[in-house]
Amino acid sequence: MKVGIVGAGMVGSSAGYALAMMGIASDIVFVDRNTGLAIAQAEDISHAVPFVSATTVIAGDYDALAGTRVVIIAAGVSQKPGESRLELLERNAAVFREVVAEVLRASPDAILLIASNPVDIMTQIATRLSGLPPQRVIGSGTILDTARFRSLVGRHLGIAPQSVHAYVLGEHGDSEVLAWSNARAGSVALRSFAEQVGKPLTEDDRRAIDDGVRNAAYKIINGKGATYYGIGAGLARIVKAIAQDQRDVLSVSIVTPRVADIEDVALSVPRIIGAAGVVADLFPDLDAEEHAALGRSAALLKERVESVKL
Ligand code: LAC
Repeated sequence: MKVGIVGAGMVGSSAGYALAMMGIASDIVFVDRNTGLAIAQAEDISHAVPFVSATTVIAGDYDALAGTRVVIIAAGVSQKPGESRLELLERNAAVFREVVAEVLRASPDAILLIASNPVDIMTQIATRLSGLPPQRVIGSGTILDTARFRSLVGRHLGIAPQSVHAYVLGEHGDSEVLAWSNARAGSVALRSFAEQVGKPLTEDDRRAIDDGVRNAAYKIINGKGATYYGIGAGLARIVKAIAQDQRDVLSVSIVTPRVADIEDVALSVPRIIGAAGVVADLFPDLDAEEHAALGRSAALLKERVESVKL
């Protein structure tokens, strides 16, 4: 499958590297205003390919996106230390007006996979600008937060994160909701599993895990200036579900008609992902506190997206 990546910075190139290493795409095309960067990223990744796959990796202009099935949009600027994702909004909204139009001119049938932050709002902006059905404009959303949640719970329990079935919902950001109430490990409710393996989850443990998920990016950005490997792998995971029509359940962001009494807002809930993009939305059972938190997250995103003049 041919995949386009607009934005050859750290996130876009990490996604391209992950796709090449996982052998998911037959062809990867990098597009960036900084053509030297796009060429260098494509060259560097193409030198890794002979060790693991047969992916063709090139750089080109928007026309080179012809025939792509998925286009990752990682264009824009990234968070500065201490800057929230929502504060990035105005700077990235201006970038999207040009990018979305050019991508669809070159590849009108592509699924758009949005990575630029604030990803939920950028997903809603891309949906409006493109006129595409929401199911074909997918934001990475909380796929990375869900991975962080599963990783930290798995570490506490001493099991693989793949055996932890728990989701982060809502905004990919400060208002996100860790859905503890329906989390399971194996086929066992989390609380019972933790007690059975002698590692009960105390309130302090839950607070520590919540902090580790919610504030992961801030901590990493303080240490190395940006995050990119986690999100790069998360983007590749979504592309894999599309490329192989896996109909996997992933927490991603698309414009959703109604969530927690808020209408027409892009945020993350678990969704079935296949060749056509999002196949179905799933609304997990939440306890009253989680449902209220999801409603606050949705209302926050709705208010911010309405402040953007397209
Ligand atoms: C993070 C960025 C992708 O959470 O928002 O690492």
